[in-house]
Amino acid sequence: MKLKSIKVVAPATVSNVGPGFDIMGFAINTPVEEMTLRLTNKSGIRITKITGDKNGLPTDINKNTATVALMHMISKLNDNFGVELEIRKKMISGSGLGSSAASAVAAPFALNELLGKPFTKHELLEFALLGEKIASGSIHADNVAPCLFGGFILIRGYNPTDIVQLSSPRKLFCTILHPQFEIKTSEARKLIKKKFPLKDVITQTGNAAGLVTGILKSDYDLIKRSLNDLIAEPARAKLIPGFYEIKNAAMENGSIGCSISGSGPAVFAFSTSEKDGRKIGKAMKQVSLKYVKKNNVYVSSINNVGPKVIG
Ligand code: HSE
Repeated sequence: MKLKSIKVVAPATVSNVGPGFDIMGFAINTPVEEMTLRLTNKSGIRITKITGDKNGLPTDINKNTATVALMHMISKLNDNFGVELEIRKKMISGSGLGSSAASAVAAPFALNELLGKPFTKHELLEFALLGEKIASGSIHADNVAPCLFGGFILIRGYNPTDIVQLSSPRKLFCTILHPQFEIKTSEARKLIKKKFPLKDVITQTGNAAGLVTGILKSDYDLIKRSLNDLIAEPARAKLIPGFYEIKNAAMENGSIGCSISGSGPAVFAFSTSEKDGRKIGKAMKQVSLKYVKKNNVYVSSINNVGPKVIG
Protein backbone atom coordinates (compact mmCIF):
# COMPACT_ATOMS: atom_id res chain seq x y z
CA MET A 1 0.00 0.00 0.00
CA LYS A 2 1.28 3.48 -0.90
CA LEU A 3 1.61 5.70 2.17
CA LYS A 4 2.72 9.16 1.19
CA SER A 5 4.46 10.85 -1.71
CA ILE A 6 6.24 14.08 -2.49
CA LYS A 7 7.50 15.76 -5.66
CA VAL A 8 10.64 17.94 -5.52
CA VAL A 9 13.00 19.80 -7.82
CA ALA A 10 16.72 20.36 -7.28
CA PRO A 11 18.73 22.91 -9.26
CA ALA A 12 21.61 22.47 -11.70
CA THR A 13 24.95 23.72 -10.42
CA VAL A 14 28.18 25.10 -11.83
CA SER A 15 31.21 23.80 -9.96
CA ASN A 16 34.86 24.92 -9.98
CA VAL A 17 33.84 28.41 -11.21
CA GLY A 18 37.23 28.96 -12.89
CA PRO A 19 39.94 29.05 -10.21
CA GLY A 20 37.92 27.19 -7.53
CA PHE A 21 38.65 23.58 -8.51
CA ASP A 22 36.72 21.37 -6.05
CA ILE A 23 36.14 24.32 -3.69
CA MET A 24 33.57 26.60 -5.38
CA GLY A 25 30.12 26.17 -6.87
CA PHE A 26 26.80 27.92 -7.36
CA ALA A 27 23.23 26.99 -8.20
CA ILE A 28 21.24 28.20 -11.21
CA ASN A 29 17.49 28.27 -11.83
CA THR A 30 17.35 26.17 -14.93
CA PRO A 31 17.60 23.27 -15.72
CA VAL A 32 16.34 21.30 -12.70
CA GLU A 33 16.11 17.68 -11.62
CA GLU A 34 12.57 16.53 -10.80
CA MET A 35 11.87 13.59 -8.55
CA THR A 36 8.85 11.91 -6.95
CA LEU A 37 9.46 9.88 -3.81
CA ARG A 38 6.87 7.54 -2.30
CA LEU A 39 6.90 5.78 1.04
CA THR A 40 5.69 2.18 0.83
CA ASN A 41 5.05 -0.63 3.32
CA LYS A 42 7.39 -2.94 1.42
CA SER A 43 10.87 -2.27 2.82
CA GLY A 44 13.79 -1.49 0.50
CA ILE A 45 14.53 1.20 -2.06
CA ARG A 46 13.40 0.98 -5.67
CA ILE A 47 13.75 3.20 -8.72
CA THR A 48 10.48 2.72 -10.56
CA LYS A 49 11.21 4.98 -13.52
CA ILE A 50 13.88 7.27 -14.99
CA THR A 51 12.76 9.52 -17.84
CA GLY A 52 14.67 12.10 -19.90
CA ASP A 53 18.10 10.46 -19.70
CA LYS A 54 19.88 9.18 -22.78
CA ASN A 55 23.08 8.09 -21.12
CA GLY A 56 21.85 4.93 -19.43
CA LEU A 57 21.60 6.20 -15.87
CA PRO A 58 21.63 3.12 -13.59
CA THR A 59 18.43 1.89 -11.93
CA ASP A 60 20.60 -0.40 -9.76
CA ILE A 61 20.22 1.17 -6.32
CA ASN A 62 23.90 0.56 -5.52
CA LYS A 63 24.98 2.60 -8.54
CA ASN A 64 22.55 5.53 -8.65
CA THR A 65 23.61 8.60 -6.64
CA ALA A 66 20.03 9.22 -5.44
CA THR A 67 19.54 5.77 -3.95
CA VAL A 68 23.06 5.51 -2.52
CA ALA A 69 22.45 8.81 -0.68
CA LEU A 70 19.08 7.45 0.52
CA MET A 71 20.64 4.22 1.77
CA HIS A 72 23.05 6.19 3.95
CA MET A 73 20.18 8.33 5.23
CA ILE A 74 17.82 5.43 5.96
CA SER A 75 20.58 3.53 7.79
CA LYS A 76 20.48 6.34 10.38
CA LEU A 77 16.72 5.87 10.94
CA ASN A 78 15.04 3.18 12.97
CA ASP A 79 12.11 2.74 10.64
CA ASN A 80 10.93 -0.07 8.49
CA PHE A 81 9.43 1.60 5.46
CA GLY A 82 10.26 1.30 1.79
CA VAL A 83 10.93 4.02 -0.73
CA GLU A 84 10.05 4.26 -4.43
CA LEU A 85 11.67 6.86 -6.62
CA GLU A 86 10.68 8.25 -9.98
CA ILE A 87 13.40 10.44 -11.52
CA ARG A 88 12.69 12.90 -14.31
CA LYS A 89 15.95 14.14 -15.80
CA LYS A 90 15.76 17.63 -17.26
CA MET A 91 19.57 17.71 -17.53
CA ILE A 92 21.25 14.63 -18.90
CA SER A 93 23.96 12.92 -16.92
CA GLY A 94 27.55 13.74 -17.81
CA SER A 95 26.64 17.35 -18.69
CA GLY A 96 28.87 19.22 -16.23
CA LEU A 97 25.77 20.73 -14.65
CA GLY A 98 25.77 18.63 -11.50
CA SER A 99 23.16 16.16 -12.68
CA SER A 100 24.40 13.34 -10.43
CA ALA A 101 24.67 15.77 -7.50
CA ALA A 102 21.10 16.98 -8.09
CA SER A 103 19.92 13.36 -7.78
CA ALA A 104 22.03 12.84 -4.66
CA VAL A 105 20.48 15.97 -3.12
CA ALA A 106 16.87 15.66 -4.31
CA ALA A 107 16.27 12.17 -2.88
CA PRO A 108 17.41 12.78 0.74
CA PHE A 109 15.82 16.24 0.67
CA ALA A 110 12.48 14.72 -0.43
CA LEU A 111 12.56 11.98 2.20
CA ASN A 112 13.54 14.45 4.91
CA GLU A 113 10.57 16.67 4.01
CA LEU A 114 8.22 13.70 4.00
CA LEU A 115 9.40 12.56 7.44
CA GLY A 116 9.04 16.01 9.03
CA LYS A 117 12.71 17.09 8.73
CA PRO A 118 14.52 14.76 11.18
CA PHE A 119 17.87 15.84 9.64
CA THR A 120 19.50 19.24 9.27
CA LYS A 121 20.73 20.42 5.87
CA HIS A 122 24.32 19.84 7.02
CA GLU A 123 23.43 16.21 7.80
CA LEU A 124 21.74 15.85 4.41
CA LEU A 125 24.94 17.16 2.82
CA GLU A 126 26.91 14.20 4.19
CA PHE A 127 24.39 11.71 2.67
CA ALA A 128 24.45 13.56 -0.64
CA LEU A 129 28.26 13.54 -0.70
CA LEU A 130 28.33 9.77 -0.27
CA GLY A 131 25.82 9.45 -3.12
CA GLU A 132 27.82 11.76 -5.38
CA LYS A 133 30.98 9.75 -4.72
CA ILE A 134 29.48 6.86 -6.72
CA ALA A 135 29.39 8.98 -9.88
CA SER A 136 32.74 10.73 -9.70
CA GLY A 137 34.86 8.31 -7.68
CA SER A 138 35.80 11.03 -5.22
CA ILE A 139 34.30 13.17 -2.48
CA HIS A 140 33.82 16.69 -3.79
CA ALA A 141 31.10 19.01 -2.54
CA ASP A 142 31.22 21.75 -5.13
CA ASN A 143 28.00 20.54 -6.81
CA VAL A 144 26.07 18.97 -3.92
CA ALA A 145 26.60 21.86 -1.49
CA PRO A 146 25.32 24.65 -3.77
CA CYS A 147 22.53 22.36 -4.98
CA LEU A 148 21.39 21.80 -1.38
CA PHE A 149 21.96 25.29 0.05
CA GLY A 150 21.52 27.43 -3.08
CA GLY A 151 23.69 30.43 -3.97
CA PHE A 152 27.48 30.50 -4.05
CA ILE A 153 29.30 28.07 -1.79
CA LEU A 154 32.95 27.97 -0.83
CA ILE A 155 34.17 24.63 0.46
CA ARG A 156 36.85 25.78 2.88
CA GLY A 157 37.88 22.23 3.71
CA TYR A 158 36.89 18.58 3.51
CA ASN A 159 38.04 17.06 6.78
CA PRO A 160 35.47 17.77 8.19
CA THR A 161 33.32 19.32 5.45
CA ASP A 162 33.45 23.06 6.09
CA ILE A 163 31.19 25.02 3.78
CA VAL A 164 30.76 28.78 3.64
CA GLN A 165 27.69 30.35 2.03
CA LEU A 166 28.53 33.51 0.11
CA SER A 167 25.88 36.13 -0.65
CA SER A 168 25.23 36.32 -4.39
CA PRO A 169 25.83 39.49 -6.40
CA ARG A 170 22.36 40.71 -7.42
CA LYS A 171 23.22 41.65 -10.98
CA LEU A 172 25.06 38.46 -11.84
CA PHE A 173 23.67 36.27 -14.62
CA CYS A 174 24.96 32.96 -15.87
CA THR A 175 24.74 31.68 -19.42
CA ILE A 176 25.19 27.96 -19.94
CA LEU A 177 26.09 26.42 -23.25
CA HIS A 178 25.51 22.69 -23.13
CA PRO A 179 26.88 20.82 -26.15
CA GLN A 180 24.98 17.54 -26.13
CA PHE A 181 27.57 14.89 -25.47
CA GLU A 182 28.72 13.17 -22.31
CA ILE A 183 31.92 13.60 -20.31
CA LYS A 184 32.43 11.29 -17.37
CA THR A 185 33.69 13.23 -14.33
CA SER A 186 35.71 10.22 -13.20
CA GLU A 187 37.57 10.25 -16.56
CA ALA A 188 37.97 14.04 -16.66
CA ARG A 189 39.50 13.97 -13.16
CA LYS A 190 42.28 11.70 -14.42
CA LEU A 191 43.46 14.51 -16.73
CA ILE A 192 44.28 16.86 -13.86
CA LYS A 193 47.97 17.08 -12.99
CA LYS A 194 48.89 16.03 -9.46
CA LYS A 195 51.65 18.61 -9.03
CA PHE A 196 51.93 22.29 -9.97
CA PRO A 197 54.84 24.75 -9.83
CA LEU A 198 54.75 27.17 -6.93
CA LYS A 199 54.20 30.16 -9.24
CA ASP A 200 50.99 28.53 -10.56
CA VAL A 201 49.83 27.79 -6.99
CA ILE A 202 50.34 31.46 -6.14
CA THR A 203 48.43 32.64 -9.23
CA GLN A 204 45.58 30.19 -8.61
CA THR A 205 45.31 31.09 -4.90
CA GLY A 206 45.22 34.80 -5.77
CA ASN A 207 42.50 34.24 -8.34
CA ALA A 208 40.39 32.04 -6.04
CA ALA A 209 40.65 34.60 -3.24
CA GLY A 210 39.87 37.38 -5.74
CA LEU A 211 36.80 35.53 -7.00
CA VAL A 212 35.41 35.06 -3.47
CA THR A 213 36.05 38.71 -2.65
CA GLY A 214 34.52 39.83 -5.94
CA ILE A 215 31.38 37.78 -5.19
CA LEU A 216 31.08 39.11 -1.64
CA LYS A 217 31.59 42.72 -2.70
CA SER A 218 29.58 42.48 -5.94
CA ASP A 219 32.76 43.74 -7.61
CA TYR A 220 32.16 42.61 -11.18
CA ASP A 221 35.52 43.82 -12.45
CA LEU A 222 37.33 41.84 -9.74
CA ILE A 223 35.27 38.76 -10.68
CA LYS A 224 36.37 39.27 -14.29
CA ARG A 225 40.06 39.67 -13.39
CA SER A 226 39.94 36.59 -11.15
CA LEU A 227 38.21 34.15 -13.46
CA ASN A 228 41.34 32.37 -14.67
CA ASP A 229 42.07 28.75 -13.98
CA LEU A 230 45.43 26.99 -14.24
CA ILE A 231 44.31 23.61 -12.89
CA ALA A 232 41.25 22.16 -14.65
CA GLU A 233 40.55 24.29 -17.72
CA PRO A 234 43.94 23.81 -19.46
CA ALA A 235 43.73 20.05 -18.93
CA ARG A 236 40.11 19.60 -19.97
CA ALA A 237 39.66 22.18 -22.75
CA LYS A 238 40.54 19.54 -25.36
CA LEU A 239 37.46 17.53 -24.36
CA ILE A 240 35.17 20.31 -25.61
CA PRO A 241 35.42 20.93 -29.38
CA GLY A 242 36.08 24.62 -30.07
CA PHE A 243 36.32 25.49 -26.34
CA TYR A 244 38.66 28.49 -26.67
CA GLU A 245 36.68 29.79 -29.66
CA ILE A 246 33.49 29.50 -27.58
CA LYS A 247 35.15 31.30 -24.69
CA ASN A 248 36.37 34.10 -26.99
CA ALA A 249 32.86 34.49 -28.41
CA ALA A 250 31.48 34.85 -24.86
CA MET A 251 34.11 37.42 -23.85
CA GLU A 252 33.70 39.43 -27.07
CA ASN A 253 29.97 39.62 -26.44
CA GLY A 254 30.14 41.13 -22.96
CA SER A 255 30.89 38.19 -20.63
CA ILE A 256 32.77 38.97 -17.42
CA GLY A 257 34.23 35.46 -17.15
CA CYS A 258 33.85 32.13 -18.88
CA SER A 259 35.12 28.62 -18.17
CA ILE A 260 34.14 24.95 -18.11
CA SER A 261 31.19 24.09 -15.87
CA GLY A 262 32.38 21.26 -13.61
CA SER A 263 34.06 18.65 -15.74
CA GLY A 264 32.12 19.76 -18.85
CA PRO A 265 31.02 19.66 -21.59
CA ALA A 266 28.80 22.54 -20.39
CA VAL A 267 30.51 25.95 -20.47
CA PHE A 268 29.36 28.83 -18.27
CA ALA A 269 29.75 32.57 -18.86
CA PHE A 270 28.96 35.34 -16.37
CA SER A 271 27.35 38.61 -17.37
CA THR A 272 25.67 41.50 -15.59
CA SER A 273 22.31 41.48 -17.37
CA GLU A 274 19.89 38.96 -18.77
CA LYS A 275 20.05 40.73 -22.12
CA ASP A 276 23.85 40.30 -22.27
CA GLY A 277 23.40 36.72 -21.09
CA ARG A 278 21.14 35.94 -24.07
CA LYS A 279 23.52 37.61 -26.54
CA ILE A 280 26.43 35.64 -25.10
CA GLY A 281 24.43 32.39 -25.34
CA LYS A 282 23.65 33.02 -28.99
CA ALA A 283 27.30 33.72 -29.80
CA MET A 284 28.56 30.66 -27.91
CA LYS A 285 26.02 28.39 -29.57
CA GLN A 286 26.87 29.69 -33.03
CA VAL A 287 30.50 28.63 -32.53
CA SER A 288 29.69 25.29 -30.90
CA LEU A 289 27.32 24.34 -33.74
CA LYS A 290 30.37 24.12 -36.01
CA TYR A 291 31.52 21.14 -33.94
CA VAL A 292 28.52 19.64 -32.13
CA LYS A 293 25.08 19.18 -33.70
CA LYS A 294 22.89 19.80 -30.64
CA ASN A 295 23.49 22.53 -28.10
CA ASN A 296 21.21 23.82 -25.35
CA VAL A 297 21.51 27.33 -23.94
CA TYR A 298 20.20 28.45 -20.53
CA VAL A 299 20.32 31.96 -19.10
CA SER A 300 19.67 32.28 -15.40
CA SER A 301 20.19 34.43 -12.36
CA ILE A 302 21.76 32.73 -9.32
CA ASN A 303 19.43 30.30 -7.54
CA ASN A 304 19.54 31.15 -3.83
CA VAL A 305 16.88 28.60 -2.81
CA GLY A 306 18.21 25.08 -3.50
CA PRO A 307 15.77 22.18 -3.73
CA LYS A 308 12.05 22.76 -3.20
CA VAL A 309 8.82 20.85 -2.86
CA ILE A 310 6.51 21.22 -5.86
CA GLY A 311 3.82 18.68 -5.07
N1 HSE B 1 35.13 19.66 -9.06
C1 HSE B 1 34.67 18.53 -9.79
C2 HSE B 1 35.57 18.32 -10.99
C3 HSE B 1 33.27 18.78 -10.24
O1 HSE B 1 35.83 19.29 -11.70
O2 HSE B 1 36.01 17.19 -11.21
C4 HSE B 1 32.72 17.74 -11.16
O3 HSE B 1 31.36 17.96 -11.36
